[in-house]
Amino acid sequence: MIAWLVECGQFHSRSRFTSAAFQPPLLYTGVFTAMKNRQPIGILGATGMVGQRYIQLLENHPFFEITWLAASDRSSGKAYGEAAKWRLDTPLPERIARMTVSPAEPEGAPKVIFASVDAAIAREMEPKFAAAGCAVISNSSAFRMAPNVPLVIPEVNSDHLHLIEEQPWRKDSGGYIVTNPNCSTIGLVMALKPIEERFGIEQIFATTMQAVSGAGYPGVASMDILDNVVPYIGGEEEKMESETLKLLGALDGHAVKPLAAGMTAHCNRVPVIDGHTECVSIKLGKKLGREVTQEDILAAWAEFQPLAGLNLPFAPGQPVEWSALPDRPQPRLDRNRGRGMAVTVGRLRPCNLLDWKFVLLSHNTVRGAAGATILNAEMLASLGKLEPATAVATHV
Ligand SMILES: NC(=O)c1ccc[n+]([C@@H]2O[C@H](COP(=O)([O-])OP(=O)(O)OC[C@H]3O[C@@H](n4cnc5c(N)ncnc54)[C@H](OP(=O)(O)O)[C@@H]3O)[C@@H](O)[C@H]2O)c1
Repeated sequence: MIAWLVECGQFHSRSRFTSAAFQPPLLYTGVFTAMKNRQPIGILGATGMVGQRYIQLLENHPFFEITWLAASDRSSGKAYGEAAKWRLDTPLPERIARMTVSPAEPEGAPKVIFASVDAAIAREMEPKFAAAGCAVISNSSAFRMAPNVPLVIPEVNSDHLHLIEEQPWRKDSGGYIVTNPNCSTIGLVMALKPIEERFGIEQIFATTMQAVSGAGYPGVASMDILDNVVPYIGGEEEKMESETLKLLGALDGHAVKPLAAGMTAHCNRVPVIDGHTECVSIKLGKKLGREVTQEDILAAWAEFQPLAGLNLPFAPGQPVEWSALPDRPQPRLDRNRGRGMAVTVGRLRPCNLLDWKFVLLSHNTVRGAAGATILNAEMLASLGKLEPATAVATHV
């Protein structure tokens, strides 16, 4: 386990308090290998909202190079530029526009797949790729709660990546599935992790105001969302409630023991293009042994830098950014902080029902989707987990 904590950076972050001179040697090997020789990656669901973000964010990535794009039968066989309705505000790279969309089959696909297809499709498709020896790094909810599948935010629980060794595909072909959480869960858990670590959390009450891009393209009809708020997003509240507790839980042998906290979520769709806002109240635990002050919470957020020094290109320097202004965070003004990978928190104040309340904001298709997968892949690369299983075995 210690080897895994070392590999995963968790031991490194805690060790700052025990041994300042500690250097985790294994962390860097994979990164340097990947940098010298970019890892070919494929995108499953390449024409969708999240697929397009991968393409935008991966242009000139130092570790990864897109060599394969796949989508549904509607798109397969066409040039990507023809198959995809490009919706982002940077030009579609020429090289990608000319690539032919492949059928969504493992034959001919590279060994690393960034997957962003609907959960029902992912449930069938992702195991096929894992069985064929691929590292499937997925955005879909299909396997997030499976006991042997890591649900990971690198800043929060990269030690949970150990669960890939519990997967049958890993043993048979070297393949595995790793998932990132739902787009509204990611922002919430990043803000909660430093608080949970220092003070403990007993209850969480979260209300979301979620952007329309979270529903994919074309998503919610304009006649339903303009001049309106829709107080229902199918399955979203259940996902937030279960995923939050798994992410904040502890790896316990062969599975994760969820955090023993009460959690409830209200999820709403609002007429914002990108950026999920959440109003959160929390009841704290007793880890500190005294009353927790506002300064304590601000310090926990400010000092939360668990990936510092790992040189992961998508890791934001300040994962949880505090805004002291009374009317922030706001989606239009704050969603691109940390190149879309940071969570902005503001309006921290006492709560009359629980202990503290605050507002947070995160970019749902960057931090909440494509950027989350890319950071998971960078973490896996840094651990040597994007290499074939036989090579990986020497690290474990
Ligand atoms: N949008 C977000 O903010 C967000 C955040 C977190 C997680 N996610 C998750 O990410 C996944 C994708 O979301 P999205 O917003 O990108 O959806 P989307 O815009 O609807 O895109 C869906 C993609 O899946 C492809 N596809 C559909 N049927 C397929 C099939 N039978 N075989 C292979 N590919 C197929 C589509 O290809 P065609 O163009 O050929 O139809 C398209 O590329 C979902 O599981 C979603 O829950 C989304």
